Order: sequence, then C-alpha cells, then structure tokens
Amino acid sequence: MKQKLWAGRSEQSTDKLLDIFNASFRFDFRLWPFDIEASKAHAIMLCECQIINEQNLKEILEGLNSIETEILKDEKAWFMARQDEEDIHMAIERRLTELIGDSARKLHTARSRNDQVATDLRLWLRRENIENQKLLINLRQTFLELAERDCAQIMPGYTHLQRAQPISVGHHWLAHYERFSRDFARFTEIYKRLNCNPLGAGALAGTTYKINRLSTTKALNFAETCRNSLDAVSDRDFVAEHQFASGLLMVHLSQLSEELILWASEEFKFIELDNRFATGSSMMPQKKNPDIPELIRGKAGRVLGNLQAILIVLKGLPIAYNKDLQEDKEGLFDTCETVQICLKIMNSFLQSLKLNHDTLTKAALQGFMNATDAADYLVKKGVSFREAYYAVGKAVQYCLAQNKILNNLTIEEWQSFHEMFTADVQESIQIFNCLENRESLGGTSPTRVREEIGKAWEQLKKEIANLTD
Ligand code: ARG
Repeated sequence: MKQKLWAGRSEQSTDKLLDIFNASFRFDFRLWPFDIEASKAHAIMLCECQIINEQNLKEILEGLNSIETEILKDEKAWFMARQDEEDIHMAIERRLTELIGDSARKLHTARSRNDQVATDLRLWLRRENIENQKLLINLRQTFLELAERDCAQIMPGYTHLQRAQPISVGHHWLAHYERFSRDFARFTEIYKRLNCNPLGAGALAGTTYKINRLSTTKALNFAETCRNSLDAVSDRDFVAEHQFASGLLMVHLSQLSEELILWASEEFKFIELDNRFATGSSMMPQKKNPDIPELIRGKAGRVLGNLQAILIVLKGLPIAYNKDLQEDKEGLFDTCETVQICLKIMNSFLQSLKLNHDTLTKAALQGFMNATDAADYLVKKGVSFREAYYAVGKAVQYCLAQNKILNNLTIEEWQSFHEMFTADVQESIQIFNCLENRESLGGTSPTRVREEIGKAWEQLKKEIANLTD
C-alpha cells in the first residue's frame, strides 16, 4: 500500500488486512466524475475567498481536467492501475499531486472527506434519480398505449384470484399506470431533499476559514445548502429514501410480473410471450419460460434487502460521521443498477406481449361474473340489496346444479328466484353491458377508461416537460 495521504500521526504502516477491509475504491470508483466536479467547485470557491491564489487554482483545474481526460480515455486501465487506493477521493488527490505537485496539497483546505463523500454521493444519486424518472415515464407511456389498444377487450377481474366481475384489459393496464405514477412522484419528491449541498461542513463542525458555501451550492447546481454541519456529514436519509422509493417500485414491478407469469401459463393463457423475450428449457423441448418477469420478481427481494440494510446501518449511529456510513454505497449502487435494468426490460417485455383475445373473452363469459349485475338489476327496481343478493345466490346455486350459466336461464326460471325479474334482465346481465355500465368515476367502463387515458396523457406530457435535466 502506498503512503497514506493521512499518514502523520503514526510512524507505523497499517496492517495489510486493514487496508483491504477499509478500502472502498473497488465500488466508489464510479463517483469519479462527481468527485472531480465537486473539487473544481471547491477550488474555485477557495480562490474566490482568497484562501488559495489564482496560480494554485489554475493548476488545480488543469490537473483535474487532465485526470478527467485520463479516466475517460481508459476507465478500466485507470482503475486497475490504482487498485490499492483507499477510495476515489484519495485516488484523485494522489494523482493530482503527482501531476501538479504543491498546489494539489492545498485542495483539501477547508474540506474533509466527510463532506466530500456526502457531496459526491448526492451528485451521483441526483443523476440516477433523474434516470429513474425518465425510465418511469417510458414505462408509463407504454401502459397508456396498451390501455388505448386494449380498452374494449373484456377479461375477468379477480379478487382472491377468484373470478369476480368483468373488467376492461385497458382498465387493468391503467391500474398499473397509477402505481408507477406514484413511484414517479416519489422520485420527484425525494429529489428535493437530495438536492442540498453538504460541502463546506468540514469534518463535522464547519471550518475556521472564511469560506462561501453558497458559491459551491451555485456551482454544483444544488437548490439548497445543508444548514447544520453535523447533520450535513451524517445525514443519509437521502439514501434511505431512495432505497424505499426503489423498494416500493420493485414491489410494483414484482406484482405486475407475478400477474404476467400467471397469464402466460397454460392454465390462464391470456397472453402469448414473444420469442425474443422468452427462454427455453435445457431439458424440456416444449417449454417457453417467462424468465424476465420471474427475475424481476426475484430481484425485488434484493432491492428490499438493500432498504433493510441501510436502515439498520443507520439506526445505531451517533452523530456525525462514522465509518459505518461507507456501507451506504454498495446497496445503493446495486439498487440503482437493478431498478434501471428492470424498468427497461419490463418496458420492452410489455410491448412484446400479445393478448389472446378469444381466451380473455371466453373467460369473461364464465364464472358468474354478472351475478352482481343481476342483483343490481333488482335493486334498481326497488328491492333491497340483501334480498336481491339472496335471490341471485339461489339462481347461481341452481345454475351450478343444472350446469347452466345465468345468461341462458329462461324468464320463468328467473321469476322462480324473484318475481321482480322480467324479460329485460337478460339484456342487463349481458357481459358487455356489465362492463359498459360500470361508468362511475374510476370505473372500468371503456368510455370511462378512454376519458382517464386522455387525462393521463395530459398529465404525463406536463411531467415530461418539467423533467429536470
Ligand atoms: N470512503 C469513505 C466513505 O465512503 C469516505 C469518507 C472517509 N472519511 C473518514 N473520516 N474516514 O464513507
């Protein structure tokens, strides 16, 4: 291990095992663009406040630019050559010292790695948050397109996974749209708290130099400046919030996946998987497996684990920086990568699915899904709901015994269950009427669904226009 930039207190070098155990370079290397950006803003501020001179600043900026060019030229080689560095902050400072000498030694004036790492991580997560917002917009767009396409297609709606009432497939897609809209809103909400500048908090207590924190806030495009130095270096709420928003998003993706897996099974057969997005079995030649939604469902477990992990890391920490905080990163990086690939692949997967229209329609015609409508028919004639419910229950029992469905009962049969049934009952329990008649606000009638799709497009377009870039 190279001489530590923080060596000084002790003559002895650190144990090899400690070096390995302590290092975060392996995973925090990815923060490099933000470490450079924040260092530039810090150096400019130091010069503005006459803490370093113009010549120092010029050399620091040139040096940082060269490092940027070096890394961009061959990221992997730069990383491999420095594998024994402690972390990205030390690696960049060391390289800067190699390149420009003395001026580099002034860069860390009025700064600590504690405010530095908090700043880098917020800058990095800001980019990821926006990426999540964009991917969620794409996914929501797909849901609206699917909802438009499948608005008039009927299917069974389920409660307890038992056939309940007919719904429009478009309505079903819109239900998922709503969930992902809330996820989108959550990322925009937590962005506000994320967008706050900790730089200048020093190690924990601020600094004796006359710095100008507002200068770095402006240069780094932060909306606010963290107001308490102790909190600034130890606050990882922004990580926990991101993990929660990601965890809930993965729960939504996982529920959707579960449905699609069921729908693709021979038992449901509601959808047909596209060969480009399905896999085979190494042994059973007939298999067409829904690996994509299964993997998404599985990966949701990992992301939820990362949420647990950060909360548990944080719960025992006295204020301010403790090394435990280095454990905020791997889970966060993993979550961001996982969420983004899942959002991308789910989007393509959804677009590739084909509906089995016949199966959906046939399934909607079975299972007495118009029973509620038959009861509602009586209620509209003045019968109490409970009395109507009982009469239709008897009709269902009769049909089951006779192997019939409600639609082919004769008027005489209907009247044997309640005298208020007349010939027009047939029409009112016609399954497509059952669908069309559910036109209460938020209901499944295709007319309503089309209205909702229109409103949703308007909302989505506004959100696209407002996307922070
Ligand atoms: N690698 C460290 C982290 O990720 C950087 C901060 C180190 N600060 C310290 N006081 N040792 O948290």
